[in-house]
Amino acid sequence: MNRITPDIVRKAKGHGITALTAYDYPTARLLDEAGIEVLLVGDSMGMVVLGLQDTTGVTLEDILHHLRAVSRGVQRALLVADLPIDTYRGPEEAVANAKKLTSAGAHAVKLEGGTTRVEQIKAIAGAGVPVMGHIGMLPQRIREEGGYKIKGKTPAESLLLVEDAKAVENAGAFAVVLELIAPKVADEITRSIQIPTIGIGSGKHCDGQILVFHDLVGYSPWFIPKHVHPEATVGDAISKAAAAFIARVKGTESEK
Ligand code: KIV
Repeated sequence: MNRITPDIVRKAKGHGITALTAYDYPTARLLDEAGIEVLLVGDSMGMVVLGLQDTTGVTLEDILHHLRAVSRGVQRALLVADLPIDTYRGPEEAVANAKKLTSAGAHAVKLEGGTTRVEQIKAIAGAGVPVMGHIGMLPQRIREEGGYKIKGKTPAESLLLVEDAKAVENAGAFAVVLELIAPKVADEITRSIQIPTIGIGSGKHCDGQILVFHDLVGYSPWFIPKHVHPEATVGDAISKAAAAFIARVKGTESEK
């Protein structure tokens, strides 16, 4: 199903698009019913759901498994799924795997990289699958890059990021995630391209914002990224509920 019309993309520009990750049916259903516009089955599931160190161990099968569950909970949102590492090394591989994701319920796919991924984006978009780009800090390259560091701190790096954004747009992406990009550069990118920018840790001047759901609700309290202001303390609520259950079953609850 194509939920992305040129009109939606034009209207989304500058209107605060809301996007969150979702990895299971209840979360997808609650977020969809709350009115979140874009749900992403992303490879951050590696850390927040699978207990891996980074996203590089996430497979296409992992994404497909969670995508099917999320898809059952989505009525209105645009459902985007990540192409994980090494699943889009060339245009043919990219198209074949993008189609597996749409067959499992995704309305669009996302992949990481700018100028180096133009052929893949063109091929996927050309095959009729809407593509979201992702530039800036690229989690699939974390091992080469040595950590989550802000991009665009030097003029040379900023120029490359603007080129990446334009390349992604010209290749046919309908939107682009800007991850950990210096806010001034994210602002410049947002003003330089026609497709919406969706920021994460890249300041307030993007056309929309995306967060990892677990970070937003405090479900991974052992790691809170600097750019996140949790809106809930789900981790605490789970610990308290478990403690109450233990006390009830063992008969050790305090008398009130
Ligand atoms: O997988 C993910 O959560 C992502 C966001 C960081 C955009 O790609």
